[in-house]
Amino acid sequence: MAKLYYNKDNFKLYLGDSLELLQQFPENHFDMIFADPPYFLSNGSFTCQNGKMVSVKKGDWDLGNGLKKNFEFHLDWIRACKRVLKPHGTIWISGTYHSVYQCGFALQVAKFRILNDVAWFKPNASPNLSCRFFTASHETLIWARKDEKAKHTFNYKDIVDWDNNYRKTLKCVECKADNSYELLHEKGKQMRSVWAITTPQKIEKRFGKHPTQKPAELLKRIVLASTNKGDLILDPFTGSSTTGLAAHLYGRRFVGIDTEKKYLDLSIKRFEELAKNMGNKPSRESHEVPQFLQGGLEMQN
Ligand SMILES: C[S@@+](CC[C@H](N)C(=O)[O-])C[C@H]1O[C@@H](n2cnc3c(N)ncnc32)[C@H](O)[C@@H]1O
Repeated sequence: MAKLYYNKDNFKLYLGDSLELLQQFPENHFDMIFADPPYFLSNGSFTCQNGKMVSVKKGDWDLGNGLKKNFEFHLDWIRACKRVLKPHGTIWISGTYHSVYQCGFALQVAKFRILNDVAWFKPNASPNLSCRFFTASHETLIWARKDEKAKHTFNYKDIVDWDNNYRKTLKCVECKADNSYELLHEKGKQMRSVWAITTPQKIEKRFGKHPTQKPAELLKRIVLASTNKGDLILDPFTGSSTTGLAAHLYGRRFVGIDTEKKYLDLSIKRFEELAKNMGNKPSRESHEVPQFLQGGLEMQN
């Protein structure tokens, strides 16, 4: 069995290649998988971040290998995930146009049942420097179920509560709140498939930066919507483990895998602070938003 890099309170991290490590887990093991695979968009060009020009190189893990090899990679890890997912289990995959069409096609080839594609709109997306394209301001999340007929988890009521709570945090200065949330999510109406959530706030990166870190709010919504307390969640490209933090917060068990030790070390720092802040208190119910969680998972009391 693969060696655990970290294991505390149902939060487990493995160092290694998911394609190899996943073979060591039993079939039908996980209730939900959130996967944020390499987008293969690192190409030597430049983008704008906080008003500065920065290279579009996230890391060697994000360098593409051409259309065919990239697709084979996505199909391989998606098939490996399907084996370890329970029949009623679901998978979320995030991506931009660089990768998401390939992942969507691979899901269909692997015979998943696609449930939704969600557009995550980033109200504070960086501007486009060249002024020759539209500013990229969203990512796509595909949500799919393993088995054609099984009944998947969808916690409709918890999402209404999440929405009510998130509204309360929108006024915080650091979130650079604008009115896009209110425009896209009409109060009291069903949650739609376009979600306005700002990119991670400074406070979420205070232990160090992961170049493609997801905002805590995005993962909180996904975990609440598609899992139950005690469920086992896998993130095969865990990075700074935003998925694991949301899982722990709501009393779910978590397994994260990454090839980079430095990202697992960052995950541990984030997790330990969250665990400390939660103290001996039980995991949160969806309707509770303690102050230290507003606008991020690591804020202190
Ligand atoms: C897009 S990032 C995930 C970021 C994460 N969602 C977060 O919030 O921090 C993808 C991660 O996958 C890791 N990775 C790339 N190839 C991998 C592989 N074959 N097995 C495991 N991890 C891999 C990279 O090191 C990187 O941290």
